[in-house]
Amino acid sequence: MNFNQELQQELDALQAKGNLRQLPALKHDGRYVTVGGQRMLNLSSNDYLGLAADVALRKEFLDTLTPETFLPTSSSSRLLTGNFQIYDELEAELARLFGAEAALVFNCGYHANTGILPAVANAQTLILADKLVHASLIDGIRLSAPARCIRYRHNDLAQLERLVHENAGQYHRIIIVTESVFSMDGDRTDLRRLVQLKSCHENVLLYVDEAHAFGVFGPTGLGCAEEDGCIADIDFLVGTFGKAAASAGAYVICSHTVRDYLVNRMRPFIFTTALPPVCMAWTLFVVRRLSGMNARRQHLQSLGRQLRSRLEQQDYSTPSTSQIVPMIIGASADTIIRAEHMQRHGFYALPVRPPTVPEGTSRIRFSLTAALTEEEIAAIPL
Ligand SMILES: Cc1ncc(COP(=O)(O)O)c(C=O)c1O
Repeated sequence: MNFNQELQQELDALQAKGNLRQLPALKHDGRYVTVGGQRMLNLSSNDYLGLAADVALRKEFLDTLTPETFLPTSSSSRLLTGNFQIYDELEAELARLFGAEAALVFNCGYHANTGILPAVANAQTLILADKLVHASLIDGIRLSAPARCIRYRHNDLAQLERLVHENAGQYHRIIIVTESVFSMDGDRTDLRRLVQLKSCHENVLLYVDEAHAFGVFGPTGLGCAEEDGCIADIDFLVGTFGKAAASAGAYVICSHTVRDYLVNRMRPFIFTTALPPVCMAWTLFVVRRLSGMNARRQHLQSLGRQLRSRLEQQDYSTPSTSQIVPMIIGASADTIIRAEHMQRHGFYALPVRPPTVPEGTSRIRFSLTAALTEEEIAAIPL
């Protein structure tokens, strides 16, 4: 068998299990997508606040640009000639909004999560990570070798507490790694309890990924840490701009010293061309408006409650407490059939299968946005 045949054999095995992934050819039209000639309401977008579908907002932004200020590339790493002023402005604004010492911006959440941990961990570090953290964090943990990692059961903070107390004396440093809103289950972790746990030991640090919470939770949309009043207690507060903020990139809120250290040590920060300045300008434009978007946030949470209650009425138990609402079906093949049924009825809901979720928990993952209406949620053929 040659190389291509070997690969094909693996692909065939994935297909047989209903787990083959293919890139969908789709056309976007605001809240809708057209796939295979069929126009469907998009129920699978991370555009949580509906900003990516907001043409008026884009027009307002475009009015601020001229051919001279529209800068489509940074042409370099930030450490060379790519550090345009807009980066400093965005970071200063983030630090101000979060009431923190510093912020550092990255090209995406994947870079943040694969770069920060390897930069700060070493052989005397123990990483304690929730079992369901995002693949980007898992890759970051892998790249952190020789640091040791233990994965605790999802949201089992009693187990985490035991692990911390047992190991705090054995390691120079422990880093607890979690998401605030989990990307596949849509449930939240108890940040206050994590902060309390951290306060018991001097050598415990907290790393929280708010990719699905930034823009969505908190009185001014800064995330769950803002809602729970614990921004200052989190050592690495990470968020992304590709979801509710309708842009691209990611940030970490941290101390001046951590920021300086990452600038010197974090490979996905150092060895990459910085995002285009126009992208940063759009991010800053959106970030400055987030605090005024409570009506969108409340509408989004109300849609989440409505969908969860519809699922419960049909005897689905869903772990969700957010705008991410999984309908857990089990077998991949059944999940695909259900997703296709919804699509035939004009609702673009997508199946999520292993390895993204554990074997036997294939699901339809509804990812709601504030651009949807109650009538539309009521009409989803569950
Ligand atoms: C929890 C979480 N963190 C990080 C990322 C990666 O962020 P980005 O898309 O900006 O690379 C994602 C998904 O995109 C995510 O769900």
